[in-house]
Amino acid sequence: MSASERRDSARTAVVWGALEQLLGGEPVRILDIGGGTGGFAVRLAGLGHRVTVVDPSPDALAALARRAREDGVEVEGVQGDLAGLPGLLADDDQPDVVLCHGVLEVVDDPAAALAAIREVLRPGGRLSLLVAQRHAAVIARAMAGHVAQALALLDDPEATGRTGRRFTADEVTVLLADAGFEVGSVHGVRVFADLVPGALLDLEPGTAGALLELERAVADRSEYLPLAAQLHVIAER
Ligand SMILES: C[S@@+](CC[C@H](N)C(=O)[O-])C[C@H]1O[C@@H](n2cnc3c(N)ncnc32)[C@H](O)[C@@H]1O
Repeated sequence: MSASERRDSARTAVVWGALEQLLGGEPVRILDIGGGTGGFAVRLAGLGHRVTVVDPSPDALAALARRAREDGVEVEGVQGDLAGLPGLLADDDQPDVVLCHGVLEVVDDPAAALAAIREVLRPGGRLSLLVAQRHAAVIARAMAGHVAQALALLDDPEATGRTGRRFTADEVTVLLADAGFEVGSVHGVRVFADLVPGALLDLEPGTAGALLELERAVADRSEYLPLAAQLHVIAER
């Protein structure tokens, strides 16, 4: 495994841990909205789940189809977006689980997006929501010397960066509650994974494994939550 693959597994380990717990052993119906090239969808299909990716990007859907073919799994790809979600699935095909990872940052209206997800999710179904967190972005900007940008990001929920809007844990839990979801858990993701220099992951044997352990160990410690680059929330309809 290369250093970048090792860093990627440290970046996603906490999300996969929460998903494995959520999904249990039985195959379920999953909708991955804004699933892109299928980083999550293909692996979930490989675990036996029936997965549909809805994404507006034809390029992403083509890459998804290639990836699924290479892995020998079936993932349905549908071109569409969050705004049109309620019309895309049949009434008798309600997902048990919806993934919305890295998408709420870029939609026009996050509240409307969550309402659309709630509309398609089966009653009692779960949402796996992954969003960029603002506090960590403020720290990253300041540490890179972009102090004015850090200041601008500090209190403005609408201040957008390269990857779009950023949220605090309070903002995202209020948005979910307002859309009628019950928030189950909030985990910090990528607390340290982006901070450790890549060269160090190769230099000392065992560092990559220890980084993964560290990410898992701090994910549900509230004192580390503001430092996480992303927040992973599990919510129930
Ligand atoms: C940062 S990528 C995340 C991809 C994937 N969910 C992941 O975690 O690897 C954002 C994805 O959202 C999709 N997207 C952008 N606007 C969207 C919208 N309005 N509705 C649904 N998906 C959207 C993009 O095409 C892209 O594939």
